[in-house]
Amino acid sequence: MWLLLVLCGSLTVCSAVDRNNFKTCDQSGFCKRHRDMATGASPYVVLLDQLTLDHSKATVPLMNKVTKVQLKLEIWSLKNNMARMRVTEMEPIKQRYEPPVGDVLIGEPAQDSLEKLQLDGAKAVFGFGSNKLRIQAEPFLIEVSTDDVPVMSINHRGLFKFEHYRLKNEGKAEEEAEEGNEEGNGEEGKAEEENKEQPEEEEEEPGMWEETFKTHTDRKPHGPSSVGFDIAFPGFEFVYGIPEHADSVALKSTANTEPYRLFNLDVFEYELNNPMALYGSIPVMLAHNEERTVGMFFLNAAEMWVDIHSNKADKSTFSKLMEFVHGDQDIPQVDTHWIAESGVIDVFLMMGPTAKDVFQQYSSLTGSTPLPPLFSLAYHQCRWNYNDEKDVAQIDENFDAHDMPMDVIWLDIEHTDGKRYFTWDSVKFPHPAEMIANISAKGRKMVTIIDPHIKRDTNYHIHQEAQAQSLYVRDRDGNEYDGWCWPGSSSYLDFLDPKVREFWASKYQPDQYEGSTHDLFTWNDMNEPSVFNGPEITMHKDAKHYGGWEHRDIHNIYGMYQQRATVEGQLRRDPQQRPFVLTRAFFAGTQRYGAVWTGDNTAEWGHLKMSIPMLLSLNLVGITFSGADVGGFFKNPDAELMTRWYQAGAYQPFFRAHAHIETKRREPWLLPDENRDVIRDSLRARYRLLPYWYTLFHAAEAGGSPAMRPLWVEFPKDKSTFGTEDQYLVGPGLLVHPVTDAGATGVSVYLPGTDDVWYDMDTSQRFHGAQTVYVAVKLNKARSRFLIPVFRRGGCIIPQRDRIRRSSSLTYHDPFTLVVALDKHNSAKGDLYSDDYNSFKYQAGAYIHRQFTFEHNKLTSKNLNPAGSFSTPAWIEKIIVIGVKSSPKAVYASVEGTGQSSLEFKYDDTTQMLIIRKPGMGVNKDFDITLS
Ligand code: NOJ
Repeated sequence: MWLLLVLCGSLTVCSAVDRNNFKTCDQSGFCKRHRDMATGASPYVVLLDQLTLDHSKATVPLMNKVTKVQLKLEIWSLKNNMARMRVTEMEPIKQRYEPPVGDVLIGEPAQDSLEKLQLDGAKAVFGFGSNKLRIQAEPFLIEVSTDDVPVMSINHRGLFKFEHYRLKNEGKAEEEAEEGNEEGNGEEGKAEEENKEQPEEEEEEPGMWEETFKTHTDRKPHGPSSVGFDIAFPGFEFVYGIPEHADSVALKSTANTEPYRLFNLDVFEYELNNPMALYGSIPVMLAHNEERTVGMFFLNAAEMWVDIHSNKADKSTFSKLMEFVHGDQDIPQVDTHWIAESGVIDVFLMMGPTAKDVFQQYSSLTGSTPLPPLFSLAYHQCRWNYNDEKDVAQIDENFDAHDMPMDVIWLDIEHTDGKRYFTWDSVKFPHPAEMIANISAKGRKMVTIIDPHIKRDTNYHIHQEAQAQSLYVRDRDGNEYDGWCWPGSSSYLDFLDPKVREFWASKYQPDQYEGSTHDLFTWNDMNEPSVFNGPEITMHKDAKHYGGWEHRDIHNIYGMYQQRATVEGQLRRDPQQRPFVLTRAFFAGTQRYGAVWTGDNTAEWGHLKMSIPMLLSLNLVGITFSGADVGGFFKNPDAELMTRWYQAGAYQPFFRAHAHIETKRREPWLLPDENRDVIRDSLRARYRLLPYWYTLFHAAEAGGSPAMRPLWVEFPKDKSTFGTEDQYLVGPGLLVHPVTDAGATGVSVYLPGTDDVWYDMDTSQRFHGAQTVYVAVKLNKARSRFLIPVFRRGGCIIPQRDRIRRSSSLTYHDPFTLVVALDKHNSAKGDLYSDDYNSFKYQAGAYIHRQFTFEHNKLTSKNLNPAGSFSTPAWIEKIIVIGVKSSPKAVYASVEGTGQSSLEFKYDDTTQMLIIRKPGMGVNKDFDITLS
């Protein structure tokens, strides 16, 4: 079977996903056991008379009425308007895996006060902030409300199930022992036994102690260990998140499909509109309605399945509290059911109430994306493979020859000596350091691929050391895990082990990674991990990791640990320079370590279309630094698709073209002239807006807000946007509608906001909000510069740099242009963040952060970092004000430290655009510019 996969991996003739390689819920014992539960079947009761409370936490036993097994239910109130519910076994015979604090959670979440409002044997009510949490003893139920409006309800459908660790045949053995005892007992003994409530054993079901999928048998030495619960979102119709799936941004009902699956997998030629698992997993869901946004995060690294049902809420609990529900209208409710193979139930309830609050709440738990080096936000050129040093040099030169900016050239697996990572093919890449130096002379960088599988070759130094120091994952029998990947027989470093991460990090030192330089960065691929001959193309679940954990417990977190170790390696190599690492597998917290891409898509229009919801889903749950392979990985895009993909990619956070080894060359200059020219325009549009992207990434680090946003994040009351996924916002200020259909001559663009105005980025034509406009998008006809609809939002000031150079690092000191798009009230605001674009000095205050405000005909620049120690020669070369009704008579500038001066300007009546040329002040100066 792996042979077929290897072949498929290198041929384009293989077609769509082979579903037989991947389990359905029915084929996965634990998923089936939970999914088969009847509504209300959960046998749990809360022993409220045993509740203990301290200032922020309530602890209470939760008992299975059938087996009498007790669980420990803990509820915390957390700072930032959050609560946490954790359920573990009271007296476990074996510990359950929980990611160590610091690995997913950035620290112990700060606690807040939990106020007891009511407590009796039947129910307990606690207050936290403006929220209440009500625990009902029997049947077990937790309801959470904000301002007395119910927002979440746990075990609402009675599907809570917790498979405690047990000994094999425990039930039977007990029964037999009891029977034996009874034989010797007199009548008295019997009566006593009858009076005592007897625990019953849960029924044994097939697959609990061993499970076979295709040719693979999972021995399950610890037996069943799954956990599951349901949570309803009353009042909500739309839920989002739980990537990664090639599916819509608004999650669909799974009533008639498989559940959404979260299990990091290498899926060959993945299908669209499908809840099948892909490369990464973030168990975070957001629910949004016109009133509020809430979120939940299920911290569990095992395989997970999530069912979603659209339902109707029980109206009696809502009364008139929900203003948006009119008359007899039904109140929607989304019921969700979460099932994980092992671990504990540890759920964070993020109470919003706005989407931006939820982003901030989630980032306070798991961290945000640190400001990336500027080059990584620019354009990346990748291919499997650039064949040799000459090829690389030609790519580099051709970008210059065709006047196209480019920052990074990538090398895929063929650059190595026989897929031995940290080495070079000595024939094709004999002088790697020189090669890198040649491109870095133009301010460019290089990335090489480094996968987690290590060739089992006794002459390969990494393998030798890994064996000698015992750094590999073990199979169930304790031997080095041996699986098949690109190099053939391979072992997998156990990145859970701090010693292994230390080893891996040390390999990035220039004396260890020969031929590497400070301008070389990293791509971690195949880190689900991909095992060509493993069950579902991944690692056996009964393989063993550091700490004695089974692979089953930690599967979804493995890839994140590899990326983290790589980041640590780059930091060790150069502590002054920000790292850059791209990963394919991911988990909650991955945002702290770099960028993610959506893996092996296909050069088809449907995949271009799907890149938008896939990236929006990632952006909603912390992974803002994300992108899709521009052009599509498999197959050959025609010139039109290629062009449209560049146009979309230029407005997505991680912008990289990539292609499969068997595809035709498709560098932009190989396309017909008219397509090549449009692609050049797209690249230039990206570079022009780098100051805006960089400012957005600063905001993402500070508050967890994503750079790429669904419309509803900015227009939370506009229900028509809740399912929108053919257009999106870049930051608050740009609306982008990529063209994703072949032969499209125009697209309909919805401009939200009854009070908003929008300006076509290309023509500056003004539109009022809350309307759909038709925009002609024909390639290379009248519209030559911005061929996909991009609109500026009135009220936003966006910084840009108009001088386009070969690479972003050549623009560090270039002047800025400010584009002020006025709203209905003739005002606007925005900001500009800037620093040295590469080091950590910004963390000590070495940055510029300016706030721009336009009001009453005056543009003001205010310093948001007065103690800042960063100086730059960059100045303001142009200010464009759009939406100015009539020409000012004069324009004056008053700049900190100098007097007033009059400025040159030009006003265009038809476009209502005012251009102030060369105001000339340093970007770090306070100033006012007045139109009079
Ligand atoms: C799979 C990755 O998804 C793809 O981008 C890469 O080119 C191949 N592996 C080869 O390394």
